[in-house]
Amino acid sequence: MHPQLATSPSNPPTDSAVLPPKLSVFKSFPPLFSKDLLTLFEHASKVPLVRLDHIGFRLFQLNDSALMREVLLDKDRRYCKGRLMRRLAAVTGEGLLINDGERWKQHRRLANPSMSGRRLAGYAPAMAESAQLLVERWRKLPSAQPVDLIEDLSRTTLIALLRTLFGVDYDSRYAHASEVIHTLLNALVQRGSALLTPPLSWPTATNRRYKQKIAEAEAILTRIIATRRAGLAEEDDPIDLLGQWLRQREQDPEHFTPEEMRDELMTMLIAGHHSLAIALSWTLWEIAGNPDLQQRLRDEVDALDAAPSDASELAKLPLTQGAFLEALRLYPQPPILLRDARFDHDLGNYRIRAGDQLILNILAVHHDPRLWPDPLRFQAERYPGINLDHLMRAHHLGFGGGPRSCIGRRFALIEGSLLLAHTLRGCLLDRAAPGPIHPRFAGMMVPSKPLLLHVTPR
Ligand code: HEM
Repeated sequence: MHPQLATSPSNPPTDSAVLPPKLSVFKSFPPLFSKDLLTLFEHASKVPLVRLDHIGFRLFQLNDSALMREVLLDKDRRYCKGRLMRRLAAVTGEGLLINDGERWKQHRRLANPSMSGRRLAGYAPAMAESAQLLVERWRKLPSAQPVDLIEDLSRTTLIALLRTLFGVDYDSRYAHASEVIHTLLNALVQRGSALLTPPLSWPTATNRRYKQKIAEAEAILTRIIATRRAGLAEEDDPIDLLGQWLRQREQDPEHFTPEEMRDELMTMLIAGHHSLAIALSWTLWEIAGNPDLQQRLRDEVDALDAAPSDASELAKLPLTQGAFLEALRLYPQPPILLRDARFDHDLGNYRIRAGDQLILNILAVHHDPRLWPDPLRFQAERYPGINLDHLMRAHHLGFGGGPRSCIGRRFALIEGSLLLAHTLRGCLLDRAAPGPIHPRFAGMMVPSKPLLLHVTPR
């Protein structure tokens, strides 16, 4: 039994609850064989809760925003991260993303200060600097040479993450980090969705490649920690998360074991730049495809005295922030969340048993016309008076919801808005690849073809 499953239900199910309907084999198999799980999430999204299981274990897809609110917010104690999510443990160990219970609470408390307003304000100049580096590079490119958004933004968000949370400068030794993380997430999705997955200890070619990538990620993290430790001696009050944790361990070695620290750092490395790079790539892709919106955004950023490097200037950029949030609505990263039921209970009027696995289909909520008028249209104006804590109540689950919502959401919004402001001030953006480009599922909602732009200095 999963460690978080409770044997005695504190919320017993009622007799009137029903078993959710089952998606027929004929309907669920074509999308499964299309090799893109996104088509399955879209395909089975018309009912609030649907059973997808055909081979013994119970798997449900949840598409309804009210039920999702119960799982994430109101009744979140009935659920834990679950078995599918725990497959990440091969990479992140027992980090925040997959932890539950007391250990999660304790580690979240340890990580929270690194996302406080004061620290975020301190990170903003480094975020702005990495954005400016990108703009300078783009401005020097020959006019016919397109930029690959995912590639360029992965490097830029990694540079910012290394500087802000890890306190180290990017150099060529980290150049393959984004590729390693991308490959690992892809492999995790394949392992998670395959009907039969050989245990990691079996010496198959796929397992060997997977373990090789895990070892590469380990080596990157080890290098980051060693570099930071070497530079720490001269600093009184490090601002970065890694510097703070290393200092705390110097003063109190019991504070955090080296293994716990490694797991949380790997979690931040994996969670802290890949999703942001993809979200920003889709944002710039949408902006480049909409000249009117691009002009209005440019008017907003041109009204500032200079390219912003201060988090307090975000208040003057509501449309820019809206564009970023809108990309997260249309292309949520990730498009699904995973939970397991800890005990028997009713979810709405549906009967759920301990151990049932739930796929929370964020995409279905974000594309629901009852919640979002004209849901497939990119409209950056949808978010007047942005308040991240209110987003969830407005059915925007781009950063999840409730106690397990994204710890890095303010970090992401600040970095995202700064980067958009810098690129819009520095360059004109045009699509270089014919659209539309559809997303596909690789843990995140990645583009099925490269997102290529022509950038012209202005
Ligand atoms: C656009 C950027 C980002 C998006 C869309 C995003 C999305 C999410 C979502 C949806 C969750 C909830 C997962 C769940 O409920 O199972 C989450 C959790 C998390 N995110 Fe983010 N995230 C982003 C950026 C970041 C950044 C920049 C960091 C760190 C620097 C970060 C670190 C984490 C961590 C550690 C968790 C687990 C929190 C917990 O369970 O306590 N994320 N993220």
